[in-house]
This record gives sequence, structure tokens and C-alpha cells, in this order.
Amino acid sequence: LELPSAQMLEELLFAGTKAARLGGAMLESWRSRFTVTEKSRANLVTEADFASQKLIHEILLNQFPDHNFLGEEDLATRPTSSPFQWVVDPLDGTSNYVHGFPYYAVSIGLEFDGELIVGIIYDPTRHDLFTAIKGQGAFLNGQRVSCTDVIRIEDAMCIASLPTATSTSDPAVKRFLSMIGRSQTVQRTGSAALNLAYLAAGRIEAFWSSSLKPWDMAAGVLLVREAGGKVCKLNGQSFDLYQPEILATATESLQAQIQQIFVETT
Ligand code: IPD
Ligand code: CA
Ligand code: CA
Ligand code: CA
Repeated sequence: LELPSAQMLEELLFAGTKAARLGGAMLESWRSRFTVTEKSRANLVTEADFASQKLIHEILLNQFPDHNFLGEEDLATRPTSSPFQWVVDPLDGTSNYVHGFPYYAVSIGLEFDGELIVGIIYDPTRHDLFTAIKGQGAFLNGQRVSCTDVIRIEDAMCIASLPTATSTSDPAVKRFLSMIGRSQTVQRTGSAALNLAYLAAGRIEAFWSSSLKPWDMAAGVLLVREAGGKVCKLNGQSFDLYQPEILATATESLQAQIQQIFVETT
């Protein structure tokens, strides 16, 4: 299949951006009046998650009725034969949102024939809009951004995503602890999408997780790649959006060192 034209890509980015901004505004409008439901222990969802997804779905499907839509808060949609699929997290960082900890975002990625071509992450509390089109670089509020050139693990600020209510014997916790000993610092911030956006913007050097879903990663992976960063599985194998593992780094050197530390850890 031939990739969409430059003009079509612009239209897709424009529509996705509008959806992300309005989804974000929806999240802010629900602040302090939402009720919280537990999907399972410490896995929260609110009315804001659903309202944001419904709005994003409406905006995108109104404009592109034949496109496929994959969102976290399932809206039953019939798969179509279109090569386009929007991969949407209407609120990444629900736990943070619930506590009023202002680190959460709307994440909208677009696949064409299985390839990520557009990515948008919007942080509604800071009005930070991260965008990427495949082959055209990564941007923060319209300004080009890139990953840092840090190559020594000792100089790297890292973030890990662990599932909520993780058992302390989980290998993910062991990896977290071993990286605390080796990197400059390891944070756990609660929004995988925003973590990837921060990596693309040169604010951190590495991010990893072994428990993510496609909507946590779709937009962020394209942003990191377009910002010159590297994305793979924890053991260095090629990244697969539909598998839960990701190791994303600013440089190849960091990737190699972290991979090695993970091998020694488990
Ligand atoms: C969660 C966040 C978190 C990650 C969890 C995700 P949600 O997404 O991305 O950083 O550690 O695994 O489920 O549920 O807030 O959209
Ligand atoms: Ca969730
Ligand atoms: Ca998420
Ligand atoms: Ca979510």
C-alpha cells in the first residue's frame, strides 16, 4: 500500500490534534465532579475517561467514517477494511488524574497498514502538545524537539512504568531497583504516554515497561522515533505495538547498557 499523501497526512494530524485538544478540555471540565470506579484493585476509571473517548471517537469518525478505532474504554466498533486505525488512550494516567496530580495526557496514534504514521500527545494541564508525522520529525507546540545525546547510563534520567499494585517480587520491580543503582535517577510518574513524549522532547533519557497496551504507546513510540530515539523490547528485539514490552532510549548506547543490566537482573 502506498503511504497517504503529504496533504492527507496533514489532514490526519490536524483532525487528531483537534480531537486531542478537545479530549483534554473534556478531562479538565470533569475535574472535581467525576466519580471513580475500580476496574480491578487500584485500576481506576472515571466518567472523564469515557467522556473524553466518546468525544475523540465522534470527531475522528465523523471526518473519517471508514477508519478503524481502538480505544481503551471500548466503544463497540465494527472492524472495517480500511488500512487506517486510530489507537486512542482518552486519559493516560487515570490514577494521577483522580488524585489531582497533574501528570496525565490524551494519546492518539494512527496506524496505516500496521505502521505508525501520526502521533499526538496532549497534556491539558500544561497545554503541551507533542506531535509527529512519520518521516517529518517530532514537535512540541510547533517547535522541533529531539532526544538528548546522553550516552552514559550514569548521566541518564529514566522513568519506568510498573502496573499499579505490583507485587514486590515482580521482575519489573527487580529491574526498577537495579536501574536505581546504575542510572542517575529512576522516576515512576504514572503516564506512559507522557513519559514517551518527555523522552522525545529531551527531558529524560530512557523509559521502559513490561505491562503496556497499544494505546499507552502508539503515539509516543512515533514521537520517540521521530526525535531520533530508539525503541525496542526489553531484550533488544524489534518492538511490537501489540505486545506489552517497551524499552525506549535517547541513544543506542543507552539501549545497549540497559538491556545488559536487565539481562544481569533476571
Ligand atoms: C496507565 C499508565 C501507567 C502505566 C499503566 C497504564 P491508564 O494507563 O500509562 O503509566 O504504568 O500500566 O495502565 O490506565 O492511566 O490509562
Ligand atoms: Ca486505564
Ligand atoms: Ca493508559
Ligand atoms: Ca487510559
